[in-house]
Amino acid sequence: MDVQKGYVDMPIDKELNLKEEILKIKKEKNAVILAHFYQRDEIQEVADFIGDSLALAQIATTLQQPVVVMCGVHFMGETVKILCPDKKVIVPDLNAGCSLADSCDAKDFEKFIEENPVHTVISYVNTSAGVKALTDIVVTSSNARKIVERLPADEKIIFGPDRNLGSYINSVTGRNMKLWNGACHVHERFSVEKIVELKKQYPDAKVLVHPECQKPVVLLADKVGSTAALLDFAKNDSAKRFIVATESGILYKMKQACPGKEFIPAPPNDSTCACNDCSFMKLITLEKLYNSLKYEMPVIEVDPEIAAKAVKPINRMLEMSEK
Ligand code: 13P
Ligand code: SF4
Repeated sequence: MDVQKGYVDMPIDKELNLKEEILKIKKEKNAVILAHFYQRDEIQEVADFIGDSLALAQIATTLQQPVVVMCGVHFMGETVKILCPDKKVIVPDLNAGCSLADSCDAKDFEKFIEENPVHTVISYVNTSAGVKALTDIVVTSSNARKIVERLPADEKIIFGPDRNLGSYINSVTGRNMKLWNGACHVHERFSVEKIVELKKQYPDAKVLVHPECQKPVVLLADKVGSTAALLDFAKNDSAKRFIVATESGILYKMKQACPGKEFIPAPPNDSTCACNDCSFMKLITLEKLYNSLKYEMPVIEVDPEIAAKAVKPINRMLEMSEK
């Protein structure tokens, strides 16, 4: 069987209870399902672990199972494969890319590094294995601030590829990192006007913002943080209502973790739709997850030479996150 379309396109018996079948096959094959917070609700329901990019990378290093299904985007599957080269790592649809990772081609990034010698290279985890192989330290939105603050104040740093996260980190650390000019098309779509309107409607609501958003949106925030940090804030804060400016998949966990609190998705600027979805994340469906487990395809492969280089900055991140 081939997976030319990027996923297994086999017909599925309509009578099957897919959730039950997925759990059954997962057990038979000794597989584990990881899912990012932006996944569809039904995917999060069958996952063994749900987390932000940092937690998913951390969990990957502790897994005993030989088969890992990553319900997330391609770079997340690559990160698991790089950390666990002996495991079979499956992403149910290889078309699940990332506009931010795509905004940074490895060859162009290499040129950027050559143009800025004697700089430490920090890359956001939303990058290809090729970009990670050129990097000194990988970061996620959970640990970027902490890791940058650990470096000497006069250290020259290149930060890629997210200009919004990079400029946010510059503003809170007082650094002047040189930024790659990339962005996430989902987080750049949030509208200041629509959030301000929502604030007028719900003055008691606190605003939660992912640092991939543009500065005017970040300035409206009561809390800026990774998906996990926003979730923690919602759990621990006394507010009963939150306006959420990140991909709407996170609302599933927020509602589950905070019964009695209300979560209002911040709308994108260019649509009448109330939610802002990452179309790549939403490519993973129960049907594709079922077929991927059943046929153990499509698998993620990373060139071993690239993987050998890329694992170093990922491990450096994991070490620096623990201290
Ligand atoms: P987190 O690391 O905050 O989960 O973010 C991942 C991501 O892709 C954000 O768009
Ligand atoms: Fe990439 Fe943006 Fe989707 Fe996150 S939300 S996976 S950064 S395209």
